Amino acid sequence: MRKNIVAGNWKMNNDLAQTEGLLTDLQKQTQTSEAEVMVAPSFTNLWHAFQSLRTSNIEVVAQNMHFADNGAYTGEVSASMLKSVGIQTVILGHSERRAYFNETDAILAKKVDAALANTMRVIFCFGEELEDRKANKEEAVVKSQISNALFHLEADAFKNIVLAYEPVWAIGTGETATPEQAQDMHAFIRKTLSEKYGEEVANSVSILYGGSVKPNNAKEIFSKPDVDGGLIGGASLKAQDFFEIVNAF
Ligand code: G3P
Repeated sequence: MRKNIVAGNWKMNNDLAQTEGLLTDLQKQTQTSEAEVMVAPSFTNLWHAFQSLRTSNIEVVAQNMHFADNGAYTGEVSASMLKSVGIQTVILGHSERRAYFNETDAILAKKVDAALANTMRVIFCFGEELEDRKANKEEAVVKSQISNALFHLEADAFKNIVLAYEPVWAIGTGETATPEQAQDMHAFIRKTLSEKYGEEVANSVSILYGGSVKPNNAKEIFSKPDVDGGLIGGASLKAQDFFEIVNAF
């Protein structure tokens, strides 16, 4: 179901005390938009965050998970472990997972399958590198990432999938995609979905933009017809900034 969503990806930030402080500050904020709000702390803080936000309208989501149900995967966390601490949604395919942990499209397809098999919602990330865009290959790269990891799914699976376009060259750089660049790629993504699954599915999927979204650019980016919100990194670590973005619809 297509909704406006703003999700904060905290990445590897905040110990327990810092998490408690940010959660307290987040709950002091006032939401004036209808957007769904999510925050993604690190694994060690998920249970605490879930309990703290239980009565709020902020959903706690995970930044990653393994595709196996259990077993000899030292250091990894499974879908059932996430669900046991109240987590129903997981971010998969973030460019930092792809770059630093060699997560291929094939591995991500297995992770998506495992999340869906555990009735979890997936925020699936993808996006081109700067050299891809300079070579005018951004659409080919994005189409390949989406189709290789998702196009084995039945149409019905997309009711539990949120897409997040995050051009790698915009992540953490302050070099935000222009609203027009975001809209062009989101429209291409929706067209690609439509060609595979039809208009109804394509128009039912939320497509978020991520990459240096800030309070001063969120409104214009979110105003674009095929942009359904954002996946926020740095600006999600300050409650007031994050809620200025949440309210930017
Ligand atoms: O997942 C969101 C993240 O990659 C964007 O980071 O700091 O550019 O907002 P940032």
